[in-house]
Amino acid sequence: MTGDERLERPARPDGRSARRGGVRGPAGGPEAALTGGWSRVPSVQPIRTDRLVLREPRVDDAGAVFVFRGDPQVQRYNDEPLRTLQETEAFIEYLLAEAAAGLRRHFALEVGGTVVGLMGLHSWQPRHRRAELGYDIAKEHWGRGYGTEAGRAVLAFGFTAMRLHRIHARTIADNDRSVHLLQSLGFTREGTLRESSLEDDGRFHDSALFGLLRSEWATAG
Ligand SMILES: CC(C)(COP(=O)(O)OP(=O)(O)OC[C@H]1O[C@@H](n2cnc3c(N)ncnc32)[C@H](O)[C@@H]1OP(=O)(O)O)[C@@H](O)C(=O)NCCC(=O)NCCS
Repeated sequence: MTGDERLERPARPDGRSARRGGVRGPAGGPEAALTGGWSRVPSVQPIRTDRLVLREPRVDDAGAVFVFRGDPQVQRYNDEPLRTLQETEAFIEYLLAEAAAGLRRHFALEVGGTVVGLMGLHSWQPRHRRAELGYDIAKEHWGRGYGTEAGRAVLAFGFTAMRLHRIHARTIADNDRSVHLLQSLGFTREGTLRESSLEDDGRFHDSALFGLLRSEWATAG
C-alpha cells in the first residue's frame, strides 16, 4: 500500500530499482488502453472534510511530501524512503502520470494549508471496478484521526466517482496502526500472505489482505 503498493515492487520513478515500491512504470500501459485513458478519468475537485482538504498532489508539494516519504520511521512498512527533494519531485510526477493514465487517483492531505500526508487508490482496474487503498501521514500528525477522516473521504470517492465495486488494501500484519485504521474504516481481513515481505530487521513478515465491498460501505453508512 502506500501502504500501499508495497507488494508490487515496481520501477521507481527515477528509474532505479526499488527494494519495494508501489507502482508500475509511468502512464500509458495496457490498463490505459483498457480504460480509454483520459476519457474515463473523473476530474478531481478538492474534497473538504471537517479538518482536511484532499486535493491532487502538485510537484511543488515536494518539500512537505519529503517530510514523510523521506522518513524511515513512516516508511518502515512501506516503500523505501525517498532520499532527496529531486526524488520526491519525480515521485509526485509519477503519481500524476499514473492519474493521467487512469491507473490511480491520489490525494494530498492538507491541514491548515500544509500537506501532512498522501492517500489514494492505485492499481485501478476499471474493468473489474476495483482498486487498492494506500496512505501515509507525517508522524507528528499520527493518532489525531486524520487517517480515518481522509480514509472515509477517499472510500466515498472510490465508491461513487470511480464507481468501484471493491477496494482492497494490503499491509504488513505487524503494522498495528495501519491494521487498526483499516478495521476502523470497515474493511474485513480476508487473508494472510505468509512471510511475503523481507523487512529491514532481516525477517520475513506476513502481509494482511483487507477488502471492502461497495455494499458493505453503503450499509455502514
Ligand atoms: C497508518 C496511518 C496512515 C494512520 O494514520 P493516523 O492519522 O495516525 O490514523 P488515525 O489517527 O485516524 O488512527 C486510526 C486508528 O488507529 C488508532 N491508533 C492510534 N495509535 C495506534 C497504535 N499505536 N496502534 C494501534 N492503533 C492505533 C487510533 O486510535 C484510531 O483508532 P480509532 O478509530 O478506534 O480511534 C499512519 O500511522 C501512517 O502514516 N503510518 C505510516 C505509513 C504506513 O504505515 N502506511 C501503510 C503502509 S502498509
